[in-house]
Amino acid sequence: MELDNIIHSRRTCRDYSTKKVPMKLIGEILDVCRFAPSSANIQNWQFIVVTNQDKREKISDICRNQSWMADAPVHLIICNKRDEGKSIFKESGEFYCIQNCAIIAANIILKAHDVGLASAIVGALDPYEMQKLLHMPDDVIPDMVITIGYPNSLDEDQFREEMKYLTYFEEWGQKDRENDIWPLSKHVKVATKKIKQATNRAKAKLIKR
Ligand SMILES: Cc1cc2nc3c(=O)[nH]c(=O)nc-3n(C[C@H](O)[C@H](O)[C@H](O)COP(=O)(O)O)c2cc1C
Repeated sequence: MELDNIIHSRRTCRDYSTKKVPMKLIGEILDVCRFAPSSANIQNWQFIVVTNQDKREKISDICRNQSWMADAPVHLIICNKRDEGKSIFKESGEFYCIQNCAIIAANIILKAHDVGLASAIVGALDPYEMQKLLHMPDDVIPDMVITIGYPNSLDEDQFREEMKYLTYFEEWGQKDRENDIWPLSKHVKVATKKIKQATNRAKAKLIKR
């Protein structure tokens, strides 16, 4: 799929089918996503792939009882080796390490969509309980769970703020720019229509699989 299309048509999935996910696809996703950028190329991430039903149920409980998660055939835990960041970046290390894990997580959900899988990032979790369940060392923090599987249905399109409210130039609050970028609305009508059509096509294809 083309990148714009992947970004636009991805939606969080909280309703998974029981269809098994080939491990080959999970391998493909992780193999490409490990090329994500990270501060000083520290790559402070590792992954735990969980498919065991009992464990997935426990993980759902640990994630503030989000019971829908248990139906997702794969739970991917993004593990943050933050102490490596702390040793290099001192007091900024923890912050940088979380940034890095967020970036690889974004890659993973987009690549999952690209290979025909649906996903959801779950950030609401109890790190201590997760460490205990998965026998993780104390210095490795579970940052997120990404649920992966084939969708029964996808969430409705979520609202996105218009570009004109999102961008300032040169300093906070400065909306004007001399050249002719704004208003984007003059380009938006055509672009929005094209994006909607492409998104609907991609979503229909994903559900059909
Ligand atoms: C860091 C992060 C944490 C999230 N945590 C949860 C979560 O705990 N539970 C959940 O149902 N969705 C969670 N989400 C999914 C968001 O609710 C979802 O991405 C957002 O509503 C936009 O919808 P979309 O992904 O379908 O575009 C999380 C997303 C991110 C990026």
